[in-house]
Order: sequence, then structure tokens, then C-alpha cells
Amino acid sequence: MVTKKLLAPSILSADFSNLSQQIRLVEIGGADLIHCDIMDGRFVPNLTFGPMVISSIRNITNLPIDAHLMVENPENLIDSFIEAGVNYLTVHQEAVVHLHRTVDYIKSKGVKAGVSINPATPIHFLNEILEFVDLVLIMSVNPGFGGQKFIHSSLRKIKELSKIREEMGYNFLIEVDGGLTKDNIKDVSNAGCNIFVVGWSIFGNDNKTAATTEFKNLINNNN
Ligand code: DX5
Ligand code: ZN
Repeated sequence: MVTKKLLAPSILSADFSNLSQQIRLVEIGGADLIHCDIMDGRFVPNLTFGPMVISSIRNITNLPIDAHLMVENPENLIDSFIEAGVNYLTVHQEAVVHLHRTVDYIKSKGVKAGVSINPATPIHFLNEILEFVDLVLIMSVNPGFGGQKFIHSSLRKIKELSKIREEMGYNFLIEVDGGLTKDNIKDVSNAGCNIFVVGWSIFGNDNKTAATTEFKNLINNNN
């Protein structure tokens, strides 16, 4: 049984003019990973940043970097992100034709390989890849923007995936991304989530350190 509970603040809603300070604030609050959303303006209708920014983040934190690639043809970018120092590299099932090859390649470089699915993609589309991945990221909003509302049916998908993992004896982590708040995070945790991506609810808060600690306590059932 995979019982790990990790908090991954997403810097998508952070103040990019002061990124190192913003990351420091969540580090102090107890963040376990730094979630970085890479968007290409094609796979999703928004643009963010690339390997150069990841490289700068690598220089200012020892926390693992969790890179979520919302891009078309991510295969072409994998080497640059790995060289920039990511620890987890997640691609979208919808964006990759030869998913097994891509997952295998990421793992061969000593980086944890993740596969993500959009809200409209069913869990069973992952059946043939589950035994090979380190992480499955379930999008609980349509990717592209921070601060959106959690899509409630995602809970059913998390439970379904968690059940398959249990039955098959797999060890991948389940990550949930989008619309997590203090009000829904316990349900998400009980459904089987291991890595909780929280963007707006942390970086949109006046006290980012306190918000981080509060989420950490919630996922660990301390209050
Ligand atoms: C959405 C991104 C998320 C986003 C989550 O496309 O993948 O990581 O930052 O942010 P919130 O918590 O604001 O929904
Ligand atoms: Zn993300």
C-alpha cells in the first residue's frame, strides 16, 4: 500500500518577479516538492516558462522539482528538462504517441517518470502503462490556468486508480492537480492521493508559509 502524503506547491500563481523568495516561503512552511507547470500555448491555451527557469530554481532550492509538461511533443524537450535538474518529469498521455518509449527514456536518465490525464480522459487509457510509471497525475481542472474550480468527478477517478494500484500491487504515486482547497483536500486524500498540487490556495494567500503548513497538516490528518 502506498501511503506517502506529499505537498507540492505550484508556482504558477507565485510572483515571478520574486521567485526565490516565494519558494523560500513555502519551503519554510514544509513543502515537499516544487511543482512547475510548463505550458506551450498549444497543448494548453497559456504559456509559462522552460528549462532555463527550472535551472535557476534548481540553484536556489534543494527540494525535488516536479515538472508537469503541458506541451505537444514533449519528447523533444525531455533532455533539456533533465539537464536543468528536474526530479520528476510528467508528460500528458494525450500529447504522446509512443508513451512507453517516452516513459522508458525518462527513467533511463535516472528521473522519475509520470503520466498525466486530462479530466475528460478515462483511467483505463492508462492500463498498459501503469506498471512502468513512477507517478500518475490526475488533472482535476482543465489544464492551463491556476485558480480554477475542482471538478468533482475527479474523486471517482482517483478512487478507481487507487483500487487498480492496490489490486495489481503497483507502486506508482497518485498526484492530483487543480482546484485543491482546504475544503476538498481531505476527500482527495481519502480517495488515495499521495502528491497534492496546490497553487492558488497557497500563493494567493497573504501568508504563504502558514498556508503551506496548514495544507501539510490537513494531508497528514493532523487537524
Ligand atoms: C493547471 C496546473 C496546475 C495549477 C494548479 O494547469 O497544472 O498545477 O497550477 O493550481 P490551482 O491549485 O490554483 O488550481
Ligand atoms: Zn500542474
